[in-house]
Amino acid sequence: MYRQAAYDDDLYRRSRPGAAGYVPPARFEDAPPLPSALSREVPPDLPELSEQDVMRHFLRLSHMNYGVDTGMYPLGSCTMKYNPKLHEVLANVPLLTMHHPEDPPFFVQGTLALMWHLSELLKDLSGTQALSLQPAAGAQAEYLGVRIIMASHAEAGGGRDEMIVPDTAHGTNPASSAMGGCRVVELPSRDDGRVDVDALAAIVSTRTAGLMLTNPNTLGIFERDIHEIAGIVHDAGGLLYYDGANLNALVGRARPGDMGFDVVHFNFHKTFATPHGGGGPGAGAIGVTKALEPYLPVPRLVRDGDTFSWSYDAPRSIGQVRAYYGNVGVMVRAYAYLYANHGRMHEISGQAVLNAMYLLHLLKSHFEVPYYDDAPLRMHEFVISCAALKKETGCGAADVARRLLDYGIHAPTVHFPLVVKEALMIEPTETESKGELDAFASALIEIKKECYEDPKTVRSAPHVASRRQLDILAAAKRPVLSRMHERG
Ligand SMILES: Cc1ncc(COP(=O)(O)O)c(C=O)c1O
Repeated sequence: MYRQAAYDDDLYRRSRPGAAGYVPPARFEDAPPLPSALSREVPPDLPELSEQDVMRHFLRLSHMNYGVDTGMYPLGSCTMKYNPKLHEVLANVPLLTMHHPEDPPFFVQGTLALMWHLSELLKDLSGTQALSLQPAAGAQAEYLGVRIIMASHAEAGGGRDEMIVPDTAHGTNPASSAMGGCRVVELPSRDDGRVDVDALAAIVSTRTAGLMLTNPNTLGIFERDIHEIAGIVHDAGGLLYYDGANLNALVGRARPGDMGFDVVHFNFHKTFATPHGGGGPGAGAIGVTKALEPYLPVPRLVRDGDTFSWSYDAPRSIGQVRAYYGNVGVMVRAYAYLYANHGRMHEISGQAVLNAMYLLHLLKSHFEVPYYDDAPLRMHEFVISCAALKKETGCGAADVARRLLDYGIHAPTVHFPLVVKEALMIEPTETESKGELDAFASALIEIKKECYEDPKTVRSAPHVASRRQLDILAAAKRPVLSRMHERG
């Protein structure tokens, strides 16, 4: 831990070439041999394969993979933007990658400076006053945020243990609220897909710890009553948590802090074009109001002039949820994205909304769009329902999604939000071209036709993917987590 790494000023001074008492860096050749107890007695039993065989094997495997570099990835709410290749170059410069997490802060001043400046940009974008880059992703930030909210209530006398979560919320919201020690109280939506403000007023009480909300919500509908909502929760003594999953719809145009949110998280992969989906390395951030700053996790990054260091001097902090610096490579990518797009983030959110609205326009006469009559405007994403299609043809959302794979397109999110039956949730992002959006809409419309003409083919899809239908129930209930060779 950085705390344990001795801050040796003298060693640092002597590591500079030309300094008195200069200590040259250790050379690999001078390292003592490995103790014989640690050496192999026989060489490892590796298969003998030609370079060509190995090359073909891995290339074939890579072709079976699907990622945002292969095609559109319209996974509503968990979407991926493109991953700029420049970010890969920047995140892989040896000055960054050669550091070890145990390096003392004076060796990593550049990394700490980058983290500091990234934090400043994020505070500015979110309208928060203090920030931590510790969360590994959105879900961990939610857990952290609940802990922060609970810690502040505990100091004020306690007795608040209810987190209000709308029925449109992502599953992580109730899960992290429960993990953070809260009882989850479900808040219903109205006919227009927005939070029922009257129901909220009736639910809040002296036990309300807070409300966890994403805006726009998971239907892609903007919660325009947000000031009234914030007022109700604050008047009841609760705090507001902003699930930043949908910030891409607002970034550069509106700030959660200005809407009344006390805690805000960022999902870097959704807003700042970093890798994450499919189990990729995650990074997030959590911003808070000045009043909640003392509860942020330790260590806190502090600045003294041009010098950066870690501080554990935070007696009211909720503690630490992640080791070391977090995922610096992802932070570098997010910083590069913010740096490159400085001053024009509003264009990004504008284009994201335009793309989603265009796609909705192409699909709305072919599919059911729940809440459309009461709320026709969507922001960065929208949800269509295959409920009627299922009734008429037997093909539901999951069948349509699987059939899309045969068209070479990644499936949208299915069966979420739970308020929509047979839901397909679609988020194209701003980085897809009109041609891609048109092709995606045409594929869905064609599949709908197939549902009536040849439902068997749709229900048994995918037909051309490297795997046919999986037993998703068994995969969820009895996941096989061992590696291939361990299974024999
Ligand atoms: C609305 C919403 N909230 C929270 C999360 C959790 O975020 P993460 O995947 O970064 O943990 C997601 C999923 O991506 C989401 O869509």
